Amino acid sequence: MQKKSIELHVMWHINSLIHSFPITLVTSIDVQGRMNAAPYSLVMPFCSSPKNPQMLLIANKNWHTAKNVQATGEFVLNYPRAEQIKDINETAQFYPEGINELEKTSFTTMPSQFVRPPKIVECYQHVECRVKEIIKPSQTQLNFIADVLDLSLDEAIYESPRIERTKNVNAPIFLGVDEQQHYIFGRIGELESFPVYSGIEK
Ligand SMILES: Cc1cc2nc3c(=O)[nH]c(=O)nc-3n(C[C@H](O)[C@H](O)[C@H](O)COP(=O)(O)O)c2cc1C
Repeated sequence: MQKKSIELHVMWHINSLIHSFPITLVTSIDVQGRMNAAPYSLVMPFCSSPKNPQMLLIANKNWHTAKNVQATGEFVLNYPRAEQIKDINETAQFYPEGINELEKTSFTTMPSQFVRPPKIVECYQHVECRVKEIIKPSQTQLNFIADVLDLSLDEAIYESPRIERTKNVNAPIFLGVDEQQHYIFGRIGELESFPVYSGIEK
């Protein structure tokens, strides 16, 4: 099989790389206390130690989320379901500063435990975060490394086995932007499980 190297342009990670990303809705507030919500997929656990749990959020510095998080140091990652894709897409629209995108959707909010930005009730999972460090890998990007202050899930989901939980939440996937400048969304079709190799010889 011949392989072809391709040139990397602006937004190569979204336009050229074929990569499935998770989808979160980030809630934040500005210095005046006004709420903001938008979808963010460049989100990863950064430190896996339970003593120092941290998440990474990568944002364009011009987005309201980045400005709010830089100014207040706080955000919440809310995990939506694939059934909510229309509302998710609605929050991606660029509204003027101070407009709460959630008011354009059927999402509602409830207070968080440790930070000022609220949780989205209809999302199945929430991570309350406080910024520890900001890395600027380019002129346009702000990478927030944030301490996880709380991880919460809908109680009923947490009680079921993990594979059932995963099916139940029906997490959507983000697959970048196509040639017509449309966001591409997907769903997880099938789940399979295999024993974890322990690395210890029997
Ligand atoms: C599924 C999805 C994932 C996205 N992920 C990111 C991301 O990780 N980082 C980013 O800077 N923009 C991302 N965007 C674009 C922002 O959501 C979009 O520009 C939005 O208008 C920003 O809103 P805000 O200014 O209220 O933060 C994503 C868009 C979609 C639809």
